[in-house]
Amino acid sequence: DWKMDAFVENTVKEIREKVGDGRVLLALSGGVDSSVAAGLLSKAIGKQLTCVFVDHGLLRKDEGDEVESVFGPEGQFDLNFIRVNAQQRYYDKLAGVTEPEAKRKIIGEEFIRIFEEEAKKIGAVDFLAQGTIYPDVVESGLGGESAVIKSHHNVGGLPDYVDFKEIIEPLRDLFKDEVRKAGLELGIPEKLVFRQPFPGPGLGIRIIGEVTAEKVRIVQDADAIYREEIANAGLDQEINQYFAALTNMRSVGVMGDERTYDYAVALRAVKTIDFMTAESAELPYEVLNKVMNRIINEVKGVNRVFYDLTSKPPGTIEFE
Ligand code: XMP
Repeated sequence: DWKMDAFVENTVKEIREKVGDGRVLLALSGGVDSSVAAGLLSKAIGKQLTCVFVDHGLLRKDEGDEVESVFGPEGQFDLNFIRVNAQQRYYDKLAGVTEPEAKRKIIGEEFIRIFEEEAKKIGAVDFLAQGTIYPDVVESGLGGESAVIKSHHNVGGLPDYVDFKEIIEPLRDLFKDEVRKAGLELGIPEKLVFRQPFPGPGLGIRIIGEVTAEKVRIVQDADAIYREEIANAGLDQEINQYFAALTNMRSVGVMGDERTYDYAVALRAVKTIDFMTAESAELPYEVLNKVMNRIINEVKGVNRVFYDLTSKPPGTIEFE
């Protein structure tokens, strides 16, 4: 793509001019925007860039390792990569907390605290980089309207917490599809470039009620099966967002001759243009049935699977 080729080339030049021999800090979430920002900055200034990736233990299955394999020392990019394994720290903070807004608040605040700690270790930097894209500039971006309904946590706006001189936002003029093209141009793996939106608070808002390590394991395994089967059915680029959530409901079932009393998993799949309104996707029954069978057989602790038919409004896309 010659246009993106030119964008990458020009932006790399601009970054070099702006940064000089300064140091840049970026909070890397593993999402499309921060990943593409990391790729661009790495190309421009190499090890003058430090990326901090916080694994809050609420990522999808194997996601932390995937991010590390792309941006870590074994990966293809020249940068300093810091992975903070904060899983236990988050589980401890979230223990006993059931109220959705309280959970969101804890997850967001803990992120800031960790980022601040890491920034302190690194020392003063000259620039804080952010993966802000054009729609974030004009409004508050994806699902922006629900900021009133749900307090959104984005791995972005942290200017108050870090000692830096200037913000650098290399994607500010791009739409999402252009960000993806730039990502491909930079050699970021397709899996990362075309990934569906994933909320900042992660699985924390897909587990209704208290978050525990056990519940995270259940929702991660169920969700991995669901995503695999959606991809097998060739539906992954047709549905805008799809995931498994863990209801806080347990019910009686039977396995062999044994009574079970286990959790119910809810499957969600939506079609939407702007994430402000959405309709549940009409998934083929065979696909749903296969996912149900695999989840029940492969994920310990689950004995029931539901499909969520609710549109937005009145439902939201996430469960909390
Ligand atoms: P809701 O659940 O409000 O979600 O219908 C709309 C879109 O926004 C995403 N979402 C978030 N994204 N931080 C984010 O970065 C958040 O706190 C957050 N909450 C919801 C959600 O995944 C969907 O795409």
